[in-house]
Amino acid sequence: MFDDYLSWKPFFDIVPLQEGDCRAASELHGQRFARQWNDGEISGLLLQPGVFGFAAFQTNAFFSRPLGGFVLSREVAGEAEILTIAVTEKVARSGLGWRLMQAALREAVERGAETMFLEVEENNRAAVGLYQRLGFQQVARRPAYYASADGTRSAALVMRRDLR
Ligand SMILES: CC(C)(COP(=O)(O)OP(=O)(O)OC[C@H]1O[C@@H](n2cnc3c(N)ncnc32)[C@H](O)[C@@H]1OP(=O)(O)O)[C@@H](O)C(=O)NCCC(=O)NCCS
Repeated sequence: MFDDYLSWKPFFDIVPLQEGDCRAASELHGQRFARQWNDGEISGLLLQPGVFGFAAFQTNAFFSRPLGGFVLSREVAGEAEILTIAVTEKVARSGLGWRLMQAALREAVERGAETMFLEVEENNRAAVGLYQRLGFQQVARRPAYYASADGTRSAALVMRRDLR
C-alpha cells in the first residue's frame, strides 16, 4: 500500500480546449508568464477563425480534474503558429509539453498546414529545448524584443518547422 503511494504519479488526457476551460487556462497562464492572459482573452482567441487548442486534464486526481497544461495554436492558409503553451510547474519535465505540442502539430497538419512558426524568448531554456527537440529551427532573432519587470530586455527567436 505504502509502495503504491510512493509510486503514484499523475496521468493526463489530452483533449481539445473548450471555452469552459478558459478560466483554468488563464490561471495556469498567470502562474507561468509575467503577463497573465485573462479568461476573456483566451476564449476570445479560441473563437477566432483558425484557432484551436488542447488541454491536459489529470485523470487520476481524487476529487477534481486539474488542468496540467494547455496549448493554443492557429492555422491560416497553410501556416500554423503556436500562440502559447504552458505546463504547471508541479509536473514540469514529465513529457506533458511534448504531448501538447504533438497534439497541436497533428491538428495543424489535419487542417492543411505545411509549416509551423513560433516565437520564444532566447533565454527560455525549457521552451527552446522542447522546440529544438521537436525539430524547430531558428529562422530569425529579434534583439531586445521582450522587456522584463526589472527593465532588462531579451531577444526573441522565431522558430519554424516543416509539417510535410
Ligand atoms: C516549456 C514548457 C511548456 C515545457 O513543458 P514540459 O512539460 O516541462 O516539457 P517536457 O517534459 O515535455 O519536455 C520535453 C523536452 O523539452 C526539453 N526540455 C523541457 N524542459 C527543459 C528544461 N528545463 N531544460 C532543458 N530542456 C528542457 C527536453 O528536451 C525535454 O525532453 P527530455 O525531458 O526527454 O530531455 C514548460 O516548461 C512551461 O510551461 N514553461 C513556462 C511557460 C513557457 O515558457 N512557455 C513557452 C513560451 S514560448
